[in-house]
Amino acid sequence: MKSTKHSSVRFFLFVGVAIFITFSIISVEARKHNNNRHKPHKHLKDKGSNGHKAPDPATNIPGPAPAPLPHYGSYPTNSNIFDVLSFGAKGDGVSDDSKALLAAWKAACQVSGAIVEIPAEFKFLIKPIILQGPCMPHLVLEIDGILLSPPRVGAWPKSSLFQWINFKWVHDFTIQGTGKVDGQGSDWWSPSEVYYIQKKFKHNPDMKPTALRFYDSHKITVRDIEIMNSPQCHLKFDSSSGIKVDNITINSPAMSPNTDGIHLQNTKDVEIQHSNIGCGDDCVSIQTGCSNIHVHHINCGPGHGISVGGLGKDKSVACVSDIVVEKISLQNTLSGVRIKTWQGGIGSVKNVTFSNIEVSDVKYPVIIDQFYCDKKTCKNQTDAVAISGVKYDSIKGSYSVQPIHLACSNDVPCTGVDLIDIQLKPSSNGYGGFRQALCWNSYGKSQAPLVPSSIDYCLRTESGSVKGTARSHHEHIC
Ligand SMILES: *[C@@H]1O[C@H](CO)[C@@H](O)[C@H](O)[C@H]1NC(C)=O
Ligand SMILES: *[C@@H]1O[C@H](CO)[C@@H](O)[C@H](O)[C@H]1NC(C)=O
Ligand SMILES: *[C@@H]1O[C@H](CO)[C@@H](O)[C@H](O)[C@H]1NC(C)=O
Repeated sequence: MKSTKHSSVRFFLFVGVAIFITFSIISVEARKHNNNRHKPHKHLKDKGSNGHKAPDPATNIPGPAPAPLPHYGSYPTNSNIFDVLSFGAKGDGVSDDSKALLAAWKAACQVSGAIVEIPAEFKFLIKPIILQGPCMPHLVLEIDGILLSPPRVGAWPKSSLFQWINFKWVHDFTIQGTGKVDGQGSDWWSPSEVYYIQKKFKHNPDMKPTALRFYDSHKITVRDIEIMNSPQCHLKFDSSSGIKVDNITINSPAMSPNTDGIHLQNTKDVEIQHSNIGCGDDCVSIQTGCSNIHVHHINCGPGHGISVGGLGKDKSVACVSDIVVEKISLQNTLSGVRIKTWQGGIGSVKNVTFSNIEVSDVKYPVIIDQFYCDKKTCKNQTDAVAISGVKYDSIKGSYSVQPIHLACSNDVPCTGVDLIDIQLKPSSNGYGGFRQALCWNSYGKSQAPLVPSSIDYCLRTESGSVKGTARSHHEHIC
């Protein structure tokens, strides 16, 4: 009885979906008369284990269009869920479900408050894809199942090596759910595969896909999901603003090269909080064009710590300002908090605060490196990205190589560097050979408690002329 009812319901659901897709664009207006408020979470839980619910045909078959309605806002129950399974996805982890995801996205994009559902207990193989806006407001991608990228390097189209899932021109959009985004990147990490990539694609092997990339997108939230094993960077925001990342997990091995956790570039007004990030490169990387960035309550490790830069590569302009990194716990990372710039760059890094940083077995808890170089030697140059106003307040724990390493440019010193309450002791897992605190061409003031006490004599005392020097160097470009 129940199953007969179910199959007839399914038939109608199927018909409903087909009609829905066809009419979704023109029906948006028509469906607005229904005043039932949706309750997405309740609905999602109500699905039960035997599958997915398509949008309810009863509410989706467009009726005669009512008189023009004054505003968006209320939508029928069910019609705002766009389950990829209803759009033809197999969810077996082997079939290519990219087209289904794209179709679900396109349909949902037309409806305010729509939810694209990646259901739990299914795996969806997705080829490189662009999920593009503009869409109606409050769009949600609910990832409760698993998204898998093509596992073999050879399966990636040559034209799509920059990223896997690219969100472009989206506004007021949320990714959430208890699911996973798995970049299956291990092939990309091994030297033999890199050689293969080079041969096959005749391109720079540095070109490896980022898992999730947002481009020119605004008012974006990413929460709760896990992103793992990306070929390269896990989550990137590029030319975007109004970003909130909350309660996510990023997970790839320490030996995976260049697998940044979260990468920000030309992006403003960002809050990244309450997340666990373990990867093979920077847990959070803040690049040029970023300002008003707040990173807090992050566990980082393995990885290379929280980094600003590398900035100014190939004599480029870099501008970074108003960064707060606080309440961070780092275990077993290469650095704790660092700023790195290449010689020859121009621009500035201004107003950066690192506070309440706890380090455990971190090689270099505090780094400014204005001689950043990824080769054996780089040519000495006089230009440098000017660094000013960097406050370190309450940096505590254990280091395994050097407690403080502030190496500022010979020509453009770092100014306004404050070292307050720094308490770092050698790690019991250290390699012996601990190095002294180093401050090269760094001006500012220090304030007790300072351990080791040599930190107290590390910085140079500021004078008016020093500030002038730093400012004169192209800083006005920003
Ligand atoms: C954080 O995410 C996990 C995994 O998705 C979820 O179970 C948990 O409820 C979330 N916590 C909060 C505070 O939202
Ligand atoms: C420094 O940055 C913080 C955080 O963005 C901001 O609140 C503050 O106003 C900035 N200070 C100056 C002097 O610009
Ligand atoms: C660059 O300058 C540093 C410090 O002044 C010096 O030790 C180093 O040898 C120079 N490197 C090159 C490649 O000229």
